[in-house]
Amino acid sequence: MNGQAVGIVGAGVMGSSLAQALVDRGIDTVLHDSDPGALRAAADRVGDGDRVTRLRRGGAPQGPKGRLEYASSLRDLAGTRLVVENITEDPAAKEKVHRALDEVLGADTVVAVNTSAIPVTGLALETAHPGRVLGAHFMNPVALSSMVEVIRTPYTTPEALGTLQDVAGRLGKDTVVVNDVAGFVINRCLMMFVNEAAALLDDGVATPAQVDQLFRGCLGHRTGPLRTADLIGLDTVALTLDVLAEHHGPERFTPSARLRRMVQEGHLGRKSGRGFYDYHLGEPA
Ligand SMILES: NC(=O)c1ccc[n+]([C@@H]2O[C@H](COP(=O)([O-])OP(=O)(O)OC[C@H]3O[C@@H](n4cnc5c(N)ncnc54)[C@H](O)[C@@H]3O)[C@@H](O)[C@H]2O)c1
Repeated sequence: MNGQAVGIVGAGVMGSSLAQALVDRGIDTVLHDSDPGALRAAADRVGDGDRVTRLRRGGAPQGPKGRLEYASSLRDLAGTRLVVENITEDPAAKEKVHRALDEVLGADTVVAVNTSAIPVTGLALETAHPGRVLGAHFMNPVALSSMVEVIRTPYTTPEALGTLQDVAGRLGKDTVVVNDVAGFVINRCLMMFVNEAAALLDDGVATPAQVDQLFRGCLGHRTGPLRTADLIGLDTVALTLDVLAEHHGPERFTPSARLRRMVQEGHLGRKSGRGFYDYHLGEPA
């Protein structure tokens, strides 16, 4: 790997989607996960994601152009230019990983936190180098969105911001830089839509397809909130709402009974095969 390589911590839905987008754009990538099974599953997803993205764009499937290494140790990320942390939406787990990253990374490596809602400043202050830490909220699937929500803390240096924007540019993405608050712009708004839409189902007001049809047809959204939630993963949605409830108040953000029940039953959305929609027979209409 050369000094321009990007490291990724966490090889779940987002980590593997980001790895696929990076290698597809010719950027060498090192992907680490603490769970060897997650790394194996990521290897399958990266191959499949490459094929699906190219088919949706209308091109023929091709092999990735950058090199992708799967790493069992955080130390393997040491020589990278940028590390994007994508582990589970759990503040304590993320704090631990950022302390560990701070010990193994070279002084020039920039660290981006890909989180749905956890404030970035607190994570930056867990480290001895808060200036190099910032937020990079990528959308899923990474290759298909044109924008990254970037979160600058009061400590983020212009150099760290420049490195992230340069990598985003090489991925073909624009950035909008915002200040740090739980949920930032996108998820402070989106999670409220998702949670209320799930509650509407229990109220017997509409079916999932009707909810999403209304958002598409009346508001011009590309996908409705429930299809979006299935894509994110309902476990991640519930964890994100917990973070938002902690910071903005439980009356606005406590996960609805419907959402909690679905997570308990293992209906996590597309990644488990069933969420608000059933994916076992392919993509629902
Ligand atoms: N899913 C989305 O659409 C989406 C979009 C933007 C941001 N995010 C954020 O990205 C992050 C990851 O979300 P996801 O959907 O990929 O979650 P996921 O549950 O699919 O994957 C999380 C991965 O992190 C790994 N992990 C957990 N602890 C670890 C540790 N200490 N060290 C290394 N690996 C560890 C797990 O093994 C798992 O493979 C979350 O913070 C989430 O809020 C998710």
